[in-house]
Amino acid sequence: MIPEIVEIVAVTAGLGLLVALAGLGAMHLLRERSVGVMLAVVVAVPVVVTVAGMVAITLKMIIEGTPRNIVLSVVAVSGLIGLGVAAALARRVLAASRRLVAAVHEVPPSGEFTPPRGLPAELGTVAAALEEAYRRIRLGHERERALEGARRELVAWVSHDLRTPLAGMRAMVEALEDGVVADPETVGRYHAQIRLEVDRLSAMVDDLFELSRIHAGALRLSRRRTGLGDLVADALAGVEPLARAKGVRLEGAADEAVPVQADAGELSRALRNLVVNAIRHTPQDGAVQVRVTVEDGHACLSVADCCGGIPPEDLPRVFDVAFRGEAARSPRADGTGAGLGLAIARGIVEAHDGDIGVVNTGPGCRFEIRLPLSP
Ligand SMILES: Nc1ncnc2c1ncn2[C@@H]1O[C@H](COP(=O)(O)OP(=O)(O)O)[C@@H](O)[C@H]1O
Ligand SMILES: [Mg+2]
Repeated sequence: MIPEIVEIVAVTAGLGLLVALAGLGAMHLLRERSVGVMLAVVVAVPVVVTVAGMVAITLKMIIEGTPRNIVLSVVAVSGLIGLGVAAALARRVLAASRRLVAAVHEVPPSGEFTPPRGLPAELGTVAAALEEAYRRIRLGHERERALEGARRELVAWVSHDLRTPLAGMRAMVEALEDGVVADPETVGRYHAQIRLEVDRLSAMVDDLFELSRIHAGALRLSRRRTGLGDLVADALAGVEPLARAKGVRLEGAADEAVPVQADAGELSRALRNLVVNAIRHTPQDGAVQVRVTVEDGHACLSVADCCGGIPPEDLPRVFDVAFRGEAARSPRADGTGAGLGLAIARGIVEAHDGDIGVVNTGPGCRFEIRLPLSP
């Protein structure tokens, strides 16, 4: 006769094997669920094995002698089986986390992270968070690269456009010092010219400073509810002398009091840059029109001129830092800007959550600023 204990172990082990297989199957089905659910399976396995073993032995065998042995054996066997299943779970979780770590190591610098498939829920969440983090890093890198490019352009521009007038001024000052020019008329002309250049350089340095603040994201806006009508009226009053000197008509129209949340000083600066450009590029007797309208829920500020149209290939570039059209690049009497005005205008408008664009229409072009309406 087989010793009782062997029989007990055999029955419990047989049942245990069945339950363990069922548990492993359940874990396979639940592989993408929470580790908590899997642990519940691990805990359930020895419990089920214990109960099944006890029931089977109580029903099928005449218990003689040592019930303590029976309970101990059943629990020992079910415990061992539970351990086996837990080890299988541990292996699975370890393998999943290794796959995750390997996927992280495979990400190229500033590249895309592809989360491995079939991860348990918690690791899946970690993978999703990593994917988002990598996306942000990538965006940061791209922004940094764009800023670096703009900065380099700016430095190149500074070295050229600031040095040229400085060299001219130096030559004039040396001529004055050495007494090479002495007749009062030329001396007066030199002084006037130096004064003009100093003013121009100051304006450029001021623009550079504004642009660097925009690029650094350090433009501090103090936004208040502002009527665009008043803003336009002030801007037009400010450029009136320039328009008169050029013989350009200024026409302003504000359909209604259009309220926006704006830093009036900064937005005026953007508008002024557009209006000054429009006056500069409009021939004598031409007109510059500034309008305020409401279009599909947005405040719209437009400046139209008679410049004869911007070359189509230049249209997408006019807002770039240091971009100047062919005509503007050749030296002109009225002293051209440095190609910063529109870049500054765009920076200011975007800081106001708006956008700016340009189209060729009628006798010239129309610059448009769109801003969210103040509720
Ligand atoms: N109203 C306009 N009409 C025609 N061309 C314009 C107008 N405004 C801007 N541009 C073009 O865009 C370029 C960039 O303008 P901006 O950034 O203000 O620099 P700047 O005025 O110093 O040249 C100008 O050089 C010119 O070629
Ligand atoms: Mg300009």
